[in-house]
Amino acid sequence: MDKPKEKILITSALPYVNNIPHIGNIVGSHLPADIFARFMRTLNYDVTFVGGADEHGTPIEIAAQKKNLNPKELCDYYYNIHKKIYEWLNISYDIFSRTSNEIHHRTTQEFFTEIYKNGYIKEGKISLPYCEKCNRVLPDRYVEGTCPHCGYEKARGDQCEMCGNMLNPTELKNPRCAICGSKPEIVERTHLFFELNKLSAQLEDWIKSKKGIWSSNVIAESLGWIKEGLKERCITRNIRWGVKVPLEKFKDNVFYVWFDAPIGYISFTNELKKENLWKKDSNNAGNVKIYHFIGKDNIIFHTIFWPAMLLANNKFNLPYNVVGLQYLNYEGGKISKSQNRGIFCENLSDSGIDSDVWRFYLTFLIPENSDAEWKWDEFLNKTNSELIGNFGNFVNRTLLFIQKNFNGKINFKELNFGDDEVEVLGKVRRKAEEHKQTMLNGHLRDGLKKILEISDIGNEYMQKKAPWKNLKENFEESRKTMYCCALICYELANICHPFLPNSSGKIFGMLNLKVEPKFENVYKEDIEFEIKNVVTLFKKMDEKIIDEIKGNVSKIGVETKEGKKAEEKEEIKMENEENKEITYEDFKKLNLKIGTIEQAEEIPKSDRLLKLTVNLGPEKRIILAGIKKFYDAGDLINKQVIVLTNLKPRKMLNIESQGMILAAEDEEGIKLLIPDKKAKEGSEIG
Ligand code: 2FM
Ligand code: ZN
Repeated sequence: MDKPKEKILITSALPYVNNIPHIGNIVGSHLPADIFARFMRTLNYDVTFVGGADEHGTPIEIAAQKKNLNPKELCDYYYNIHKKIYEWLNISYDIFSRTSNEIHHRTTQEFFTEIYKNGYIKEGKISLPYCEKCNRVLPDRYVEGTCPHCGYEKARGDQCEMCGNMLNPTELKNPRCAICGSKPEIVERTHLFFELNKLSAQLEDWIKSKKGIWSSNVIAESLGWIKEGLKERCITRNIRWGVKVPLEKFKDNVFYVWFDAPIGYISFTNELKKENLWKKDSNNAGNVKIYHFIGKDNIIFHTIFWPAMLLANNKFNLPYNVVGLQYLNYEGGKISKSQNRGIFCENLSDSGIDSDVWRFYLTFLIPENSDAEWKWDEFLNKTNSELIGNFGNFVNRTLLFIQKNFNGKINFKELNFGDDEVEVLGKVRRKAEEHKQTMLNGHLRDGLKKILEISDIGNEYMQKKAPWKNLKENFEESRKTMYCCALICYELANICHPFLPNSSGKIFGMLNLKVEPKFENVYKEDIEFEIKNVVTLFKKMDEKIIDEIKGNVSKIGVETKEGKKAEEKEEIKMENEENKEITYEDFKKLNLKIGTIEQAEEIPKSDRLLKLTVNLGPEKRIILAGIKKFYDAGDLINKQVIVLTNLKPRKMLNIESQGMILAAEDEEGIKLLIPDKKAKEGSEIG
């Protein structure tokens, strides 16, 4: 009988769904977890790969409030965006669930009840700001006020953005409720605390037992915390959005988000009906290896807080490995949503390039030991030289050559391998073995490099053997070379699967083999290849293509359906706000300037829009205006108009509109507002 397959459970950090993920989020957990999951499946492990959305906590509540949505609506909206992005990137989750699901709430409550029964929960009092007008206790971020350190007037209750100091909401001078602006009072409230300090010694031993498995920085950071002394931690909050505490006395409280979130790993696994993977006393005891892939800011939660919860509960397995990844920067700085700096994944699927190409370069940027950095020129070079010039080139030239000169059919019959073949296949085998060890040690980037070394070996061999020269005089020699190259392609299709799943599938397809990718050391002498329908794996890139992609992916909320929906919501919100009075301060935010229309063109696909080029003095802008029905393009040239210049650019019909022209509307239609005398371009209005 076959040995039962070893089970492993892989998880990726559960993202908050209050924004669009960027590439830093991808390389910081989803992608490495996926590569590892796919790799372990090729080694025939029984892999379960779990992910999902972390939907609770104040960041979500506040983001929702800002958009006039309730937290559930906000999460529904972003959850779908997240899910589609991970699907498009081929992140092979067995489940991508949500902590707002009923099963998660139930699992969290049961988990808590067990810890409570085991004596690790106690009550304690804390002072908290309370807003009488809103009738609620205000969590940290709901209080604003003057920073006691630097005097910044808009410091938040948890941190001052100006000087960076961590704060306590009760420390703020002139505190205000962030919702209604009134002054909160301080009230004392009873909360529940998790006594993780009781588990300090046990945790320390466990962390020390991970030497050689965890990376040294994860171990060092975790032991550092233990050394500082673990304190009991408050695990309840006076907010409405979250998992309700199942105790009568605390029925108006929910759990702190970091208490319920990691339990998501269990509840999502349960949704798959694989409860046994977590249960300590099941037949699998000690047999299931659990891997958590997370970003560096989550390390302590996964090496101390979460294991302490598991120890206190005592019914579940502890993680085997916690893979902590560093950050990704972007062109010399931090990724920032508010500054539109970075690559936001909403539009990746419209970028016109295969997700494998993104995966390829992103794999090089997996920040295993230190922060990494996205560089567009490196993306262009690496893709062209290594993915296309080396890997793709070897596969395509091999398969095309066989298709053309052997009618696609090639096999081992009556072939005698010579020294060159034995040597090249030996080299490939050794590289593949190195690749396997590298991957098992968790060095995914280096694992990918080994694959490129294999295609390099293939290219070199083919160049040396020059099978095209032998086609006439020594056909058998040419056949031998190409059979060997086909074997190397087969090997590449197998081992590139964790990184380039689409391409792996395409190569198998062209080789006409219907097999699951597996790690296999080729020395197969009995494959009957029937190569057909050879297609080019990757399209070569150039600067023009890169510029186009850059334009598409480095902005949020344009073009895609999701983007449109976001804009619509934004519009609904604006409409709601339209009737509110605004202050002079609000008005001052509008940047209105005089401009002269220099060009006006019709847009073929639109019966509403005209494309205008407007001179604003130091700059020119392209602006789309919905005035085609009321103005002839030719009549607009040299007209002066008033332009709102600091409106977020918006893309329509593939053209970015960089401002808005002011106009009035009555029953006759739209009328542009025009200054009564000619004014200098760029003059400010107000
Ligand atoms: O930092 C974050 O984005 C958290 N939402 C990660 C949670 S991981 C897990 F524990 F749920
Ligand atoms: Zn208030």
